Amino acid sequence: MSGGLVTAAYIVAAILFICSLAGLSKHETSKQGNLFGIAGMAIALIATVFGPDTGNVAWIIVAMIIGGAIGIHLARKVEMTEMPELVAILHSFVGLAAVLVGFNSYLDHAPGLEAVMENIHLTEVFLGVFIGAVTFTGSVVAFGKLRGKISSKPLMLPNRHKLNLAALVVSFLLLIVFVCSDSVGVQVLALLVMTIIALAFGWHLVASIGGADMPVVVSMLNSYSGWAAAAAGFMLSNDLLIVTGALVGSSGAILSYIMCKAMNRSFISVIAGGFGTDGGASSGEEEVGEYHEISAEETAELLKNSSSVIITPGYGMAVAQAQYPVAKITEMLRARGIKVRFGIHPVAGRLPGHMNVLLAEAKVPYDVVLEMDEINDDFPDTDTVLVIGANDTVNPAAQDDPNSPIAGMPVLEVWKAQNVIVFKRSMNTGYAGVQNPLFFKENTQMLFGDAKDSVENILRAL
Ligand code: TAP
Repeated sequence: MSGGLVTAAYIVAAILFICSLAGLSKHETSKQGNLFGIAGMAIALIATVFGPDTGNVAWIIVAMIIGGAIGIHLARKVEMTEMPELVAILHSFVGLAAVLVGFNSYLDHAPGLEAVMENIHLTEVFLGVFIGAVTFTGSVVAFGKLRGKISSKPLMLPNRHKLNLAALVVSFLLLIVFVCSDSVGVQVLALLVMTIIALAFGWHLVASIGGADMPVVVSMLNSYSGWAAAAAGFMLSNDLLIVTGALVGSSGAILSYIMCKAMNRSFISVIAGGFGTDGGASSGEEEVGEYHEISAEETAELLKNSSSVIITPGYGMAVAQAQYPVAKITEMLRARGIKVRFGIHPVAGRLPGHMNVLLAEAKVPYDVVLEMDEINDDFPDTDTVLVIGANDTVNPAAQDDPNSPIAGMPVLEVWKAQNVIVFKRSMNTGYAGVQNPLFFKENTQMLFGDAKDSVENILRAL
């Protein structure tokens, strides 16, 4: 493939990636967005592998077959609830790749560059390795926290902000040494020391962020992985990698910003590793009163006598895979003339849009699925709310307890409805590890059991 054809293919691929992002921003066009992305990536891969700068094509194809087979196997096996972990570990691979490309680019670059170009090249290498190393360990910690291997509580090292600042300052000084020194030994040492600092910095940055802020961390690491890819693109002089990395980096940053706004968190405080938070004073382990239980049959009766119902799903609906019977109940109640709508919290579940994906999969009509802001004022006029596997996203402590780790986070104000039925298996806390006073309110009743079984029991009783 000639250089000109490769450039043309890269432009087409870049346009397809932009169309893909546009498509992915809406339910209705998301499948199309995915197809654009797949087509763009296929074109990009073919143009890169068969382009004039690539040698040893056979080896690359062997590596792609092995990598592709592992990818297909993992993607088929992964449960929807494990998706955020998969995304986090994939981000770590991008970070690691940027580190390896950086070292390779330093060791292998053509000698005899002009002084200015040499400095630019060394700066690219240094920044690429730095961003890659931070992304790598940060993503590994995010993976550990999401999988429950690492505590979701924020790590509170003494002077942690000073440690972060020191890591940045020392890395900057090492950059100056790396670029200005003529000795290969000194340069290698500076690069290695910075890599170790960046690995520790990435680890610490994510470890000091609490469970409730993990959604922002995942999208932030998505953004970092984009910048790491863009940095690798500069080192490899690959324009498409620069464009793609910048697209991922900026869309991840925009998503992080939107999620911070939705959760009433300061963007700067989250990207600076929980800066300005004290991790929350109350663990919320304590019980706060008595709770009342209800059976599936009684819930069915209550629903029959309601004229308006709101369903607020959460992570438990995904675990139980209860979206199909939930869709059936919706259809059945609507057929009886009952107004049924869904209230979706922006961070319900474990990944952005998690609940929307599940409900779309079960063919719940889009027009009854409303965002938190669209539905929050309607709870006082609602007869019955079904809280299906949601916990943190319906916790009134976010508004009432300034010491709570989720203080200030906007929540679905379900307790304002006439009746609230909470579907869960036990009195356990949600992801943020905070007790939920909703469960002990007079108008709340607990329907214990797996959410799918409970909804199916209600369906039978209806
Ligand atoms: P959570 O607060 O995580 O609570 C889920 C509830 O579902 C738990 O209380 C659990 O109680 C229940 N549950 C689990 N399996 C169940 C099953 N099979 N049947 C019935 N109930 C079941 O859920 P949420 O309200 O969706 O909040 C999401 C949380 O995750 C937030 O803290 C958010 O910050 C965090 N987070 C979100 C994201 C994104 S991007 N959405 C990413 C990372 C973290 P039992 O164990 O008693 O059943």
